[in-house]
Amino acid sequence: MKVTIDGQEIEVEAGTTILQAARMIGGDVVPPAMCYYSKLKGSGGKCRCCLVDVTKGSDADPRPMPKLMASCVTGCQDGMEIASKASPRVQEARKSVTEFLLINHPLDCPICDQAGECDLQNLSFEHGKSASRFIEEKRTFEPEDIGPNIQLHMNRCILCQRCVQVADQLTDDRVHGVMDRGDHANISTCISKAITNEFSGNMIDVCPVGALTDKTFRFKSRVWFNKPYNAHRECTTPGCCGKTTVWMFGNEIQRVTGRKDEFHEVEEFICNTCRFDKKEVSDWVIEGPREFEKDSVINQNNYTQKLEKVEIATEKNILLGRDQDRKKISMAANPLDTNTQKS
Ligand code: SF4
Ligand code: FES
Repeated sequence: MKVTIDGQEIEVEAGTTILQAARMIGGDVVPPAMCYYSKLKGSGGKCRCCLVDVTKGSDADPRPMPKLMASCVTGCQDGMEIASKASPRVQEARKSVTEFLLINHPLDCPICDQAGECDLQNLSFEHGKSASRFIEEKRTFEPEDIGPNIQLHMNRCILCQRCVQVADQLTDDRVHGVMDRGDHANISTCISKAITNEFSGNMIDVCPVGALTDKTFRFKSRVWFNKPYNAHRECTTPGCCGKTTVWMFGNEIQRVTGRKDEFHEVEEFICNTCRFDKKEVSDWVIEGPREFEKDSVINQNNYTQKLEKVEIATEKNILLGRDQDRKKISMAANPLDTNTQKS
């Protein structure tokens, strides 16, 4: 069947959603998605970021759909015409959804580990309003350790439920979920149980905001100072692909994540041993620099800039002289090959 999104026609299989069709076209027509995750069954339909305007329902019934539709859960029909980025109505709706998602958000990007690779930050950059109209008190929660390696900052959570789906679909003993309802809804563990399953760390990767953070990486570095390399190892954990991205500062591996694609989704899930316990360079076969999965607010130009342009002017020039640090944030083809290191 044929569908047209922002004037671009594409042929898709029956059962394809509008969001999937838009991703097949790529570029500006792709709606943002904060809860849909192609690798998680049943995801989507919760955040409303992906709203689009169906201006023609199908060849058989060309009436437009009266309301904006969530593209991640709306199936394509033959002859359907959709306005996404091209529709001012859609842009206005995405702005409103962004404002809604930020109602209780603490806006603490300067101290959040996710800053620089946060989907909510990117969404706000593109669709956010410059000032908040929310004058009521925000709801707040204390950070909660949920197991030895993961910390939950519920204040930042947008209740997309991806982490619950990871626990349901990748582990056999889910002990957390959405507690309470409405404005009281929150993610928590049942009776303060710890999340320890071998694949639980994938919740950190799928979380679109900084609500679930890696305790082995917390506050070590801003992500844009790390150099991401694709790496692999012979992993013996059943179900783990052993293919990761290792994030390096100098010769030190500061964190390990799944490899993400252009839509900021991990390609394959990895086990906690690879993620949390293998931080020595000798643990990994380094393949080479990882390509960026997506533009983000802060990482633009950072890795591709020539190092000599990375000058940070301060009143007292206190950052001058940090040659070693400057070397560490430059990108070498191989982190251990000092000949290819820019200086
Ligand atoms: S903790 Fe993260 S992944 Fe889980 S529901 Fe909240 S925002 Fe989504
Ligand atoms: S991505 Fe479609 S509703 Fe969240």
